[in-house]
Order: sequence, then C-alpha cells, then structure tokens
Amino acid sequence: MEMQNITAVPRAIYSPSAVPAEQFVDGIRRLSEGLITKQKIYDYLVAYEIRPEDLERYKMWLEDRHTRSKIFRNDMIEVMLICWPIGAVTPLHTHNGQLGWMTMIEGKLKVENYSKSHCNRPENQQVVGMDCLAGATQIEMEHLGNELAVPGGPLNTVDKTQTIHRIRNLAEWNERAVSMHVYSRPIDSCVVFDLDSQRCYRRDLKYDNE
Ligand SMILES: [Fe+2]
Repeated sequence: MEMQNITAVPRAIYSPSAVPAEQFVDGIRRLSEGLITKQKIYDYLVAYEIRPEDLERYKMWLEDRHTRSKIFRNDMIEVMLICWPIGAVTPLHTHNGQLGWMTMIEGKLKVENYSKSHCNRPENQQVVGMDCLAGATQIEMEHLGNELAVPGGPLNTVDKTQTIHRIRNLAEWNERAVSMHVYSRPIDSCVVFDLDSQRCYRRDLKYDNE
C-alpha cells in the first residue's frame, strides 16, 4: 500500500485568512522587494490565502496531466495555481536551485523526496544561473521519505538542500487536487530524471494560462 510509505500524516494546523487575490499578490510583491528567505514566505503563506472565489479563474483541468496557471510573477518571485487530475504524477525533478513553497487548496498530494547520491556528470553543476546542465548517463538516487500535503497542514517546501522530488495525486484517492506554488526566483526550467533509462535532461516549464 502506498500510504504506508508516508511517515507522518499531518493534521490541519494552519487556517490562513482568505483575502482577495489582489491583496494577496500585493503582499507577495512587497515581500519580493526585500530579502527573500524561506521563513518569511512560509510565514506569509500560513497567514494568508487567496479567497476561493478569486481562485476559480486560475483553475484549468486536463485529464492526463497537471496544469500550471500564473497568478503573479516578477523577476524575483512567481505564484501559480496547479490543478492535479486524479492519478496525476510528475517525473522526478529539481527546482533549479531555487526556493519553493506549496500550499494545498483542495484534495491532497504525496510528495516523494529524493537526494542525488551519485551521477557521472558532476562537472555539469558548475554553471551560472541554473542548477545543472544535466546530461548524466549514470544516476543514483536515495529515496529520503514521503510527505502528505493537505489543506491547513505544514507547507511542503523545496530549498537548496532538498531540491529533488516527485509529486503524486494517487488514483486510489479518487479526488482532484489543487495546490498553490510560490517560487523564488521564478523557475523556467528544471532537470528531470528518468532512472529507468538512467538519463537526466533539462525541461522547460510553461504556464497553461498564457
Ligand atoms: Fe516540484
């Protein structure tokens, strides 16, 4: 059973105040003008959320994959809504060395955290402006554990030490999921790993609503 892999099942511990999208975005913009830390954005996201009626316009559903809808973006930070159909799963991927925060709006998601223990192109990480050129043909990953993300639960984050994961909306849950993601800086591409074929490559990330 998949569920047995999840070490800690979080309770709802936060109840953010629902505010209009414009107000929420103004707060994010203000924060982006100062020093951005993992804790500062975390504190903001457990205090405020976009009111449900304002999120509707960002929801976009496809049957076979998740969609990414831009809510706000400047040079330092981006906010998007992600809609996960039943059974949606991402490949194993990095976050380009950036910070990321995920809050659950509806449903739940399983986050599988990994760490790269070895690859045969470590020199490809020596590049400016991105985490790695990718291109390895031998990759070893350590599965560190899983997290269950639920509305009101602890935020799932990625940072400079934990940057590789896979996200699943398990088919057995039989429920769509919606999550809001904040990244700083914005992430335009990431490294995707295919462990079966022992390959990794950069993949461009696009919004579905523009
Ligand atoms: Fe991710």
